[in-house]
Amino acid sequence: MTPTYATRGALFFSWFMPSFTRVGYGLRKLTWSTKSFDYTGQTWLVTGASTGIGRQLALSAANAGATVHAVARNAEKLAQLEDEVCSNRGSIVSHSVDLSLMASVASLADYFQDNGIIFDVLVNNVGLMLNAPSETSEGLETGFATNVLGHYVLTEQLVSLGGLKSGSTVINMSSGGMYNVSLDIDALQGDHPYDGTLTYARHKRAQVALNEHWRETYGDMINFYSMHPGWVSTPGVETAMPEFHAALSRLLRCPEAGADTALWLAFTKPEQRDAQNIWFDRAQRSAHFFNGTRQGDSRTALVSYLQSFTQAAVEAA
Ligand SMILES: NC(=O)c1ccc[n+]([C@@H]2O[C@H](COP(=O)([O-])OP(=O)(O)OC[C@H]3O[C@@H](n4cnc5c(N)ncnc54)[C@H](OP(=O)(O)O)[C@@H]3O)[C@@H](O)[C@H]2O)c1
Repeated sequence: MTPTYATRGALFFSWFMPSFTRVGYGLRKLTWSTKSFDYTGQTWLVTGASTGIGRQLALSAANAGATVHAVARNAEKLAQLEDEVCSNRGSIVSHSVDLSLMASVASLADYFQDNGIIFDVLVNNVGLMLNAPSETSEGLETGFATNVLGHYVLTEQLVSLGGLKSGSTVINMSSGGMYNVSLDIDALQGDHPYDGTLTYARHKRAQVALNEHWRETYGDMINFYSMHPGWVSTPGVETAMPEFHAALSRLLRCPEAGADTALWLAFTKPEQRDAQNIWFDRAQRSAHFFNGTRQGDSRTALVSYLQSFTQAAVEAA
């Protein structure tokens, strides 16, 4: 029998609680090499870098030698981030951009091309969970625009403009929440009444499907990975899920733990057995846990849907 979304949700929290919290991270970490990562000479692009996991990623990569282009809206927080780099090998260059606006995303890709900036690593980290419907000035559901379409436009534009080096790495920050849903294109911009958690889970499922598409399409040239950071104490979680954040405050991971797998993937570029897999705590895992989540829309249909918005964004840039 295929469980309902509500049943999956209840099973999900009880089953994954130890694994996704700091308990799982602390135990797995005991078996890992303590070798530090070195990105000297690399150029990175990290989206959603002013707080939380993205902020930690940008700082750790810069402290390990990378020049990190950090993107978010809050210019003040980004400026503070630039000042926090404590190594003279790497640095942070900030870009205050609203990544929910596709014309801005396409303009950002153009900016990198115009300035000859080519990346070794792209982390599509920006993401948010909304608790009420919201629409961008371009008429898109804000969560969908930020969590899925913006990642698609940025990545495709960088690939087509030569903004990603041969052998580069793209990491898509998904979430274990996607285990609860199948790919449902018609519901990517929310349904009525709006359910923020469900809509977010669908975005995260779409990211995993998109990653699989990119592996198949560009995998000869670029290493694509999707990952789950675990449950991490960040401003995003505190705002979107205040009760969850308060109840699990002692168990949530710190941002360093949330960023760890992305930093490890970028350094080790591991082989992936199955294009569908998702990485979590330095290991690849199935992208499906419950019966029924494989039976959604196709990746091809998702890409066609995303492409239908892309041309207008590029022309407006
Ligand atoms: N924390 C967790 O437990 C957890 C679990 C699973 C997956 N994830 C995923 O991990 C990623 C990071 O999450 P987080 O918890 O670190 O979130 P966070 O603390 O809310 O950080 C989100 C970042 O995105 C930026 N941002 C949001 N909307 C933006 C927009 N329209 N344009 C540009 N930047 C924007 C925010 O900065 P500005 O406000 O300055 O723009 C901030 O830097 C997300 O994709 C999330 O879904 C997190």
